[in-house]
Amino acid sequence: LTATATAMALSLSAGGAFAACDDGEIVVKFSHVTNTDKHPKGIAASLLEQRVNDEMDGTMCMEVYPNSTLYNDNKVLEAMLQGDVQLAAPSLSKFEQFTKQFRLFDLPFMFKDIEAVDAFQASETGQAMLDSMQRRGLQGLAYWHNGMKQMSANVPLIEPSDAEGLKFRVQSSDVLVAQMEAIGGSPQKMAFSEVYGALQQGVVDGQENTWSNIYGKKFFEVQDGVTETNHGVIDYLVVTNIDWLNGLDEDVREQFLTIVNEVTQTRNSESAKVNQEAKQAIIDAGGEVRELTPEQREKWVEAMKPVWEQFKDDVGQETIDAAQAINA
Ligand code: LMR
Repeated sequence: LTATATAMALSLSAGGAFAACDDGEIVVKFSHVTNTDKHPKGIAASLLEQRVNDEMDGTMCMEVYPNSTLYNDNKVLEAMLQGDVQLAAPSLSKFEQFTKQFRLFDLPFMFKDIEAVDAFQASETGQAMLDSMQRRGLQGLAYWHNGMKQMSANVPLIEPSDAEGLKFRVQSSDVLVAQMEAIGGSPQKMAFSEVYGALQQGVVDGQENTWSNIYGKKFFEVQDGVTETNHGVIDYLVVTNIDWLNGLDEDVREQFLTIVNEVTQTRNSESAKVNQEAKQAIIDAGGEVRELTPEQREKWVEAMKPVWEQFKDDVGQETIDAAQAINA
């Protein structure tokens, strides 16, 4: 360990502290932006780290840097191409510089729930998308679930018109910009690590995210309430540098990929539960959670769905049809 890494390991509190790598071990730095606990990605990353370090001891060593301590999502893919980090799991919304295919996942009301997202990802079309950035040097290894997004602001959001004139933080995705504009909001792209401060200081009025992110980063504490819209999804692509992956000995690569796949299976089946627990934790902490009647929700669908038309050439009508067939 370098002095910096040692200092970082010491400064990381619960979870996330990594094992010291021995000389000769292949070091896999995994940089991500969320909490380590009570979070689908954080838990999966810690499990992956533990399994690699237990089962591949002497060959490979993983160091997980959570909470944007190493890179935020806007920098991590560049760092990966430079060889400074080997693994990341940015949300599917954060690949715009590399592919337009993932825009499918940002289209509002595309998937009715996380099971539909899972089925699409497992389909031939979904699996082919893992390989869509090979020419740009990136290889998708797996999809990790977070869950469905909810809306929050510093005023109650019951109908889309309540969002008119409000400033919303969005991830770095043009689809999400268009979605917020469709409800009369004024969207602002911003790194995840800056959202809490921006909400607290009124730089933005609202945001959209999953229960586990709204709970984990305490957004609910600086919002009027959270409205259960389930209008979109945040899922992740576990991604690596293709040259790095191809440079591994075949048996090492196979063992590593097997562990990634097993962790994916184990943790994806728990993601909905982790989010439900986060929702309950928000309520227990005194956060306001608002449900919509079917009529109210339909108004959000009507307001947001025209965004599909804008991006259908990027995504491809066949891909949209494939996703919709799964939803039926
Ligand atoms: C966000 O930026 O809101 C999310 O992508 C963060 C995350 O990794 O869940």
